[in-house]
Amino acid sequence: MTQLPGLLDTEAIRKDFPILDRVLHDGKKLVYLDNAATSQTPRQVIDVLSEYYEQHNANVHRGVHVLAEEATELYEGARDKVAAFINAPSRDEVIFTKNASESLNLVANMLGWADEPYRVDAETEIVITEMEHHSNIVPWQLLAQRTGAKLKWFGLTDDGRLDLSRIDEVITPKTKIVSFVLVSNILGTFNPVEAIVRRAQEVGALVLIDASQAAPHMVLDVQALQADFVAFTGHKMCGPTGIGVLWGRQELLEDLPPFLGGGEMIETVSMSSSTYAPAPHKFEAGTPPIAQAVGLGAAVDYLTAIGMDRIAAHEHALTEYAIQRFRDVPDLRIIGPTTAEDRGAAISFTLGDIHPHDVGQVLDEQGIAVRVGHHCARPVCLRYGIPATTRASFYLYSTPAEVDALVDGLEHVRNFFG
Ligand code: ALA
Repeated sequence: MTQLPGLLDTEAIRKDFPILDRVLHDGKKLVYLDNAATSQTPRQVIDVLSEYYEQHNANVHRGVHVLAEEATELYEGARDKVAAFINAPSRDEVIFTKNASESLNLVANMLGWADEPYRVDAETEIVITEMEHHSNIVPWQLLAQRTGAKLKWFGLTDDGRLDLSRIDEVITPKTKIVSFVLVSNILGTFNPVEAIVRRAQEVGALVLIDASQAAPHMVLDVQALQADFVAFTGHKMCGPTGIGVLWGRQELLEDLPPFLGGGEMIETVSMSSSTYAPAPHKFEAGTPPIAQAVGLGAAVDYLTAIGMDRIAAHEHALTEYAIQRFRDVPDLRIIGPTTAEDRGAAISFTLGDIHPHDVGQVLDEQGIAVRVGHHCARPVCLRYGIPATTRASFYLYSTPAEVDALVDGLEHVRNFFG
């Protein structure tokens, strides 16, 4: 078996993930390389979810009975765990949403309805990048259409990085918000946070970071990032679906208006007006995703016990190995950075002129799960003149043997298509 420095004990870790034992068609063992789409769930999280429903299920913040108190304690306990995981200065800065898309939409709507100095209107500009997931493009297009604000973006270099050469022209004193991805889901690129945040701060713009592909894979310290908001999702980091997080600086959350109205988010309601609960509850209208938050708390415990720095080192070693092995595959072209130094563990590529959907299908026949398509980042495909890519993405349980299986699988694809 290939040994690489920095690898985790995947033999032990894989025992925590029952699904990884699945045997698919023709007795092929599952090789799960679609972790950027969703990660698998360890037994420790599944057990916490079962126990929640078997022992504690109730609505939160409402009841005086035992189950309601237990559910509230578990839900709010999950908030404490997430706050510690991202080094938030206060637990009240952690808002639970249903996914990263909702977190990003929440910020766009807060700014759309805000008073000065935050309000986005026809005199102001919104800045994003060409490598955003659609979730960090469409909410800003909607906001720009509604308010008349101008939407601007950083383009891409040929090697899959942000082109910041005209940063002072893109981010100007008119910029109200700069929203960008920390690690691209399609290119894998790590973006230079410091330079962007510094320029945004110079002009007084707010900064929102989409950390969906970062939070599962590396130490995420919201204070070190110096952003104003950070969004991510639970299901890519060993948690359940249906739970996302928006972290925001406390004074902003106090000043900015809510987006969704309903139960839980109010202080008082009369027929003519309402006042709101303090953050985070102001932004959590209705019954929240309680079990999902509790499951995310368990996922945070699980990842923390292994160590985010060790997970990052494991993925770095695997990514380096995969890039090296990909050099042996004729006609394989990586779309994105071609060294492991400044990228995450999602690697997109094309294989000659074989359509990625065909690549994905032939790999699937061998039990290998990858994602194919535009990865909800269609502007990136347009930029590089390709219809789609095949993407392999690794996580803490991925092994060099799975990289080898992928490389063999790609050889099979090439033979199949002559
Ligand atoms: N955003 C997820 C992905 O990149 C779904 O696959």
